[in-house]
Amino acid sequence: MKQLRIGILGSGKGSNCRAILERVRSGDLAAEVRVVISDVVDAPILDIAREFGVANAYLPPGQFRTRLEPRAEEELVKMLREAGVEVVVLAGFMRVLHEPMLKAFSRRIINIHPSLLPKFPGLEAWKQAFVAGEKVTGCTVHYLDEQIDHGQIIAQREVAILPADTPESLHERIQIAEHELYPAVIAEFCEKHLETDL
Ligand code: GAR
Repeated sequence: MKQLRIGILGSGKGSNCRAILERVRSGDLAAEVRVVISDVVDAPILDIAREFGVANAYLPPGQFRTRLEPRAEEELVKMLREAGVEVVVLAGFMRVLHEPMLKAFSRRIINIHPSLLPKFPGLEAWKQAFVAGEKVTGCTVHYLDEQIDHGQIIAQREVAILPADTPESLHERIQIAEHELYPAVIAEFCEKHLETDL
């Protein structure tokens, strides 16, 4: 059976990457994770890739803080192409992508964000929702465009903010929702795109 070839990009602890790899391993997800790439040399997400026997690489990001240097972004496109990646999954990748990636993988890059977008894009979105006194927040999976945490929404999951919550306890519950939502969305994405043959 044909499997969609995905590449995962992340900068941090990799819990969403782990959730995806577990679903692939259990046979719930018709995908093959071809490579995991991080812009942070010692990011735990790379250890998770190793644990699951998945090819992984560090991409030196260059001198900027919030984006990749153009040369690095071209290199990223090359690495993903060489790995045969059809769909790019951002799992805690904390840099904005630009034309080289968006052009090479047009409508084939998806991201997860810990808020109900368009509310609270940017860093520590759960804390933003908490401080704003929201009663409900959640997580969003969306197609990527050139703006931060922006692009057509694919799916959302609500998470209630409880009176006893701290930003940390809220983030933990949002992550549980993320670990359910992201693999489910990717599974649907795989089915749809395998039919239309990317
Ligand atoms: C996740 O909560 C994800 O939604 C968020 O980073 C975390 C990564 O966790 N992404 C963003 O905030 C994107 N703007 P993980 O490394 O454990 O998957």
